[in-house]
This record gives sequence, structure tokens and C-alpha cells, in this order.
Amino acid sequence: MSSNEKRGEAVDLSHHLSKVGQARQTSPLKGLHKYMGKPGLISLAGGLPNAAYFPFSSVSGDILAPDSFPLETDSKESSLSWFWRLFSRTDKERTSTFTVGKYSKHPGDLDLENGLQYGLATGQPKLNEIIREFVGKVFQPGYSNWTTLVHTGNTDAWFKTVQTILNPGDGLIVSEWTYPSAMAGAQPFGIIPVPVGMDSEGMSSISLRQTLSEWDESARGIPRPHVLYTVPIGQNPTGTTMGIRRKKEIYDICVEYDIIIVEDDPYYFLQQGKYIPKSDRVVDSATDDEAFIASLAPSYLKIDYQGRVIRLDTFSKTVCPGSRLGWFTCNPMFAERLERTAETSSQAPSGFTQIYVASLLLKWQYEGYIRWLKALRLQYKQRRDYFLDCFADEFHLQKKFSSEGYTAGTHLYHASLKPRRSFVPLGEKDNAYSKPLFSFVPPSSGMFLWIELHLEEHPAFSSLGYKALEMKLWTEIAEAGVLFAPGAMFSATPVEDDTLGYGHFRISFSNSTPEDLKKAVSTFSTVLKRFMKN
Ligand SMILES: Cc1ncc(COP(=O)(O)O)c(C=O)c1O
Repeated sequence: MSSNEKRGEAVDLSHHLSKVGQARQTSPLKGLHKYMGKPGLISLAGGLPNAAYFPFSSVSGDILAPDSFPLETDSKESSLSWFWRLFSRTDKERTSTFTVGKYSKHPGDLDLENGLQYGLATGQPKLNEIIREFVGKVFQPGYSNWTTLVHTGNTDAWFKTVQTILNPGDGLIVSEWTYPSAMAGAQPFGIIPVPVGMDSEGMSSISLRQTLSEWDESARGIPRPHVLYTVPIGQNPTGTTMGIRRKKEIYDICVEYDIIIVEDDPYYFLQQGKYIPKSDRVVDSATDDEAFIASLAPSYLKIDYQGRVIRLDTFSKTVCPGSRLGWFTCNPMFAERLERTAETSSQAPSGFTQIYVASLLLKWQYEGYIRWLKALRLQYKQRRDYFLDCFADEFHLQKKFSSEGYTAGTHLYHASLKPRRSFVPLGEKDNAYSKPLFSFVPPSSGMFLWIELHLEEHPAFSSLGYKALEMKLWTEIAEAGVLFAPGAMFSATPVEDDTLGYGHFRISFSNSTPEDLKKAVSTFSTVLKRFMKN
């Protein structure tokens, strides 16, 4: 839809509210808040401590310049020099300072008198304004009356969403490999995951349609699900990126079957694109802001003309996880119910957090934040490339097109051991180990590499099964000093000992030094070689 076209309003989707979601009343005291801003009002109703007794007379901080990280790779630099600069901290950080005093000088400015007081569950007005501007410019929702509402991170947002739209005994559509904490948040409420097949773009629209169209309530024991949970960018754990065409297919199916889409999207700005092997890599060059936004796979919000998407954004991956701050974008009916949920749980994210993040974004302005995000994307791309280069150095990689399973539709790398000394002829035993030991699709977004282990080549595969072998290998790697995340925990449904399948590991490249990343790959190689022989 072009920006000039008139967008309609959200349709009525209130039949999706859970019993709890419907039953929530305005918190009796919070209901008085709407009078609070009235000029001249003498409020004796609330239990607000007097700001004079807040022991903070100001808060301040030093924040990095938004252009602290480069937008371009330098062809003259070695592939690692950007990394060393980051870790050696030789460059002097460029910072600027902000201070927020107890009482504001100008109406509307941030101050501690209001910022550290009990506040509305919707968040501090200044922060809301910034978030709203950002959503409008970057995500461009497809209907007119979309609303934003702060939360304390996507974990909290998902928890509140579950209570608001799911009843015990409801099914929840998820990808067959999915984020385990989201499942752990929903399952104790009696929510039953309904896995849908995947391909190289994440959730498969074909599999989704098949699941819904063939739904047999008496065989399944539960009604057809009315909520879909998805991590469309940097899918956790597989690292895939879902493009607009797939999103449109899934959205249309959700309209047809009346399903609410919960878009949990922490890795949205870490879209790295295709992995190009070192030998063919060209330098990354800077783009202008509009081209940058246009280069990102759009959010479901952009095609949401009915208001059936509840989008969860977080500052965890773009500012810092300790901020515990993010926001919902959804239709006003869901926003109002989520606000009622927040009133009686978190109330509002911490006033300190809201002041710090709002000050950062006021200092940087929209353009500065976009500048920061552009560079962040490049940082993670370089990390991803470096990490995969380590695999290419350590293993023999063979690129093959995949047409099956969750990798269907893209190129897959099969990894086998490199002969240590190429002039020594391979023995029969070694030949066995020149078969692929694991495979992976280079992640195109996010922080993780997802590998599939070819454990069927292990002598004990038929007697032990894949889950036990995966854990055995995982333990050996952990004992050698490297921690991966075992794959079975990302399965939407529990993996039993006799479940058919292959082993997997999720490996993060977001937070280690280059030396450690390299060492981890080499340790993995040594342990894997030994493991596959006995
Ligand atoms: C898919 C997904 N959702 C949510 C979260 C947690 O986000 P937050 O820190 O905002 O609670 C993560 C973090 O790892 C994640 O991968």
C-alpha cells in the first residue's frame, strides 16, 4: 500500500480475548489517572510519594555517538581489524552527556518528578511519542488506528499476550523448531503447541494451510487454533529471514481462518543477508536511511490491514537487554486489554529505564538511531561472516541445493573433516569420515548458527537414538570447554528417546572474541572427529 492510500481501521477481533483477557477491569486506583494531568487539580486520592522525597536530584549518563561503528567495510583492512579494534578498545569512545533534573524547565521535558513517580502502564508520554514516530516510519502499519504500548521486554510481552488471548486447552501454532522460552511461558497455562513445517524462509505457508484445512477437532482433542506465534526474522533457532511474499501468504491464511499473529521480532535489525565466502566477498558500502529501511524484510504490520498482528519489539538487542524495555504495536482493543494486564502486574517499566532510553533516543534523534542500527547490522554481519569463515577453514564445506525439510529452497553447506596432512593418502577409516558430519544453512539474520548433525553415521545411532547421541556429543564438547545449545530443546513438541530425527546444535556468534570463536570451532572439530569413531 502506498503511503498516500487511505488506510482503514482495524476490524473487531474482540472474540479472540481469553476469559482472563475479558475479565480484567481497570485497576480501581489507576482509573483516576485520567484526571491527573488537569490544570489546577488538587489530588488527594492516590498514594503518590512526594517527589521532594525522591533521593535523586538528577540522573545523567554518557552515551556513545550514534556513528561510533562504521557503515562500510574497508577493502584495505584485514578481515579482522574491525574486530580487534572493538576488543582492544584503543579508539577513544566519542560520547555526549545528558542530564535529567528533578523538575523540568519546559513543559513536556523529561523530569524525575514525573519519570520516577507511579506512571501509566502505557509508558512515559515522551518515550511513547518517540516509539510511535519510529513505528510509523520504519514498520508502516497497514491500518490507521494502530497503537503502541510499552512493556518490559518481549518475554514479558509474550506472557501478557498469552493471558490476554489464550485460554487453557487452546492450541498455539508455532514452527516445528521454535524459541523454547516462549513455549515455557505458555505451556503452564495449558496451551498446546501445534507445530507447522518449515523451509528456508521459516514457517511454511503450505504446511500451515494443510494443518488448518485438515484440522480434525475430535482426533486432535482441541479446537482449531486461533493464535500463531512466530519469530520471522533471525528465526530462533534456525536463523532464517521471512520475506514479504511468505508473510503475505501466511497473513492471508490467517485472515481466512481468523487467526491472530503474534510477531516476536527481537532480531529485526540484525538482517545480514546472504553469506558470501571470503574469497568472493565484496566490501559493504553505506546506504541512505530510506534504502536501509527498504532493504529490510518488512514486518507483518505492513500488510496487516485488519489489526490482527500483535507485534513485540524490544530494546534488548539494539540498546541492551538490561534495559528491560520494549513495546507492543497492535490494534486499540488489544492495547487496552494489555494495558489493563500491565496495571495489575508490572504497572509500567522502570522509570529509570524509561528516562535513560528516552534520553538516548532524544539525544540521537530518529536519524541517529537509524545510523546506529545500520552499523549494528554490519557488526553482526561481520561476526557471522567471520564465524562461518572459521568453519570453512576447519572443515571441508560442500555447497548443495536443498529441496527437503526445513532447509528446502536454499543452499546448504555439508561439512566434512579436512585431511590434516593432504600428502598422506586417506585410509579406509578416514574415508568414512570424509562423509559430511554436519550441515548448515548460513543464517541470514540474528545471532545463531543452527547445525544439523549427521549422527546417523555414528556406530551407535540405531541403538541409542538421536536424542541420547546429541546429548552425549554435547557433553563431550562441554567437557572440552565449549558450550553449545542442544537442539532438542528447540523442538516445539518434546523429543522422546525414540523420536526419529537428527541431532542439532544452536551456536551463538554474538558475544565472543575472534580467538574464542576460532578455538570453539577447532575444539568442536577435534571432539566430533573422536566422537564419530566410537
Ligand atoms: C525469539 C525471542 N523472543 C524474545 C526474547 C527475549 O527478549 P527480551 O529480552 O525482550 O525479553 C529472545 C531473546 O533471546 C528471543 O530470541
